[in-house]
Amino acid sequence: MVTFRRTHTCGEMREKHAGHEVVLCGWVHRLRNLGGLIFIDLRDRFGITQIILDPKKTPAAYAIGENLGLEYVIAVKGKASIRQDPNPNMPTGQIEIFADEIFLLSEAEALPFQISDTRAEANEEIRLEYRYLDMRRGPILSNLILRHKVMMAARKFMDSEGFIEVSTPMLGKSTPEGARDYLVPSRIYPGTFYALPQSPQMFKQILMIGGLDRYFQIATCFRDEDLRHDRQPEFSQIDIEMSFATQEELFPIIERLMQAIFQDAKGVQIKTPFRRMTYAECMEKYGCDKPDLRFGMPLKRLDDLAQKSTFTVFHDVLKGGGTVKGLTVKGGADISRKEMSELEAFVQSLGAKGLAWLKLQEAGFTSSIAKFLPDSLQKEWVQRLEMEMQDAAFVVAGPTKKVNQVLDHLRRHLAKKRALIPKESYEFLWVTDFPLFTFNEEENRMESEHHPFTSPNLEDLHLIEENPLKMRSSSYDLVLNGYEIASGSQRIHDGKLQEAIFARLGLSQEERKAKFGFFIDALKYGTPPHIGVALGLDRMIMIFANTDSIRDVVAFPKTHKAQDLMTKAPSQVNEVQLKELKLSIK
Ligand code: AMO
Repeated sequence: MVTFRRTHTCGEMREKHAGHEVVLCGWVHRLRNLGGLIFIDLRDRFGITQIILDPKKTPAAYAIGENLGLEYVIAVKGKASIRQDPNPNMPTGQIEIFADEIFLLSEAEALPFQISDTRAEANEEIRLEYRYLDMRRGPILSNLILRHKVMMAARKFMDSEGFIEVSTPMLGKSTPEGARDYLVPSRIYPGTFYALPQSPQMFKQILMIGGLDRYFQIATCFRDEDLRHDRQPEFSQIDIEMSFATQEELFPIIERLMQAIFQDAKGVQIKTPFRRMTYAECMEKYGCDKPDLRFGMPLKRLDDLAQKSTFTVFHDVLKGGGTVKGLTVKGGADISRKEMSELEAFVQSLGAKGLAWLKLQEAGFTSSIAKFLPDSLQKEWVQRLEMEMQDAAFVVAGPTKKVNQVLDHLRRHLAKKRALIPKESYEFLWVTDFPLFTFNEEENRMESEHHPFTSPNLEDLHLIEENPLKMRSSSYDLVLNGYEIASGSQRIHDGKLQEAIFARLGLSQEERKAKFGFFIDALKYGTPPHIGVALGLDRMIMIFANTDSIRDVVAFPKTHKAQDLMTKAPSQVNEVQLKELKLSIK
């Protein structure tokens, strides 16, 4: 029979509670038997309070205490008093509770890993299998609280701006483009399948056609794609769409949304407007479309100066249509020969042929390619690379795409290695004017860079037949600290243009009708111009929480092999289920 009622949490005990009769409930976090007294650190979601059991005063409670183990769940009734040895490191460190009574609520078996010491590393697979125990350790819980605050801030802000949250279906139609779909077989129509949404893209556009004007949703999306540290097969977006608007209306709303989220969730003020850069500028300056702007080191093009050198490797690359680019590391002249070789091996592992270096020191200019650079040319290289005394620079030559890719990696690698990234700094960047199409070489076909509903930049429409790969789109990404945290575009609202894009993507009339018929029809009945974006919620929280793994910010994540180690999903189903669905496993 329960004869207690919780009066306080384990996190709220302060000096002012001294003398109060209290009842606390929680888990046994630590247990010590000192000088005949038992000390218990009692933990709940809110904190830890010290409990003392004294055999002389309360022998019955003490007897229960002697049989407690770590992570047992108990209730403690007793008097709060000022602690004789206060612990300044704990918010409750002024108080201890002398227990009069203990109620044992639940026992715990021997633990698969230590909970009371988060520094004691536990293998991630074990932590995922016992996710509920990992939650008790603290960091996962604080990430879940952060996530909650972000969602609350987002909902409050979007509501205040007149956006309506609408839930769109989970069981939808398979329209594979981009990632693979997760399919759900239909029992009523054997041989047919629903698909779980990769995003609510078409539904949100149809909501605009339906006159909703401003929509948002914290939406769960499913994509069967190769997983990385920042990707989950099932993830959440803050999904947004609005009518009668362009980038100039949408961007400030998203910037204010980010301000509200940062303020509410982190207490951090961020500056707006965010910087903007076109995709072309980004590739030129940083070699990638999601540059981390927390540190400098922009790439410098050196083609003309490489041409003036006597280095035949450079000449050959340039003749072949390639490029020569470099970057400068402030104070990098202290990079040793050994480190230089390691950096060279690093770029070679990424497919570069080699890595040239230059250094500027009091003793003079030194370089792995010095003999190919006459004195007068050395000055020009130093100037172009904006090298100052004690700096080093690195140069890579090769096909443009490869050079950009290698220097992007090298730039990030050096920033990390040389601790050039300031902590608690948040650098946002809008990247605009992405290409409309890319060419999928493996499948030998044109693909949308973003998705097929993205409007081309209307200035480039004339290129659609002869040079579609040169067409720019009206799409954009929002980048934060080198991560793509959002992506969106102005949509096509003209049915004819939409058909032309589908045709350019190589979809036959039949395919278009089968996959997108409902959508093409909807566009015919009065479609407002509309624009939208989706923010990757998990990725954003990952950055907030300062972790490199998206799994740390999801309550029940999947491994990189798309398994849930706790529930053991995916799993086989029984014959009866398969029979009902008229499915058999080959
Ligand atoms: P996109 O596919 O670029 O756009 O996705 C938008 C944002 O969602 C996040 N994201 C992911 N996060 C975790 N795991 C994944 N597997 C994953 N995939 C994407 C990223 C990304 O920037 N419907 C369009 C948006 C639009 O046009 O409005 C869309 O889904 O942060």
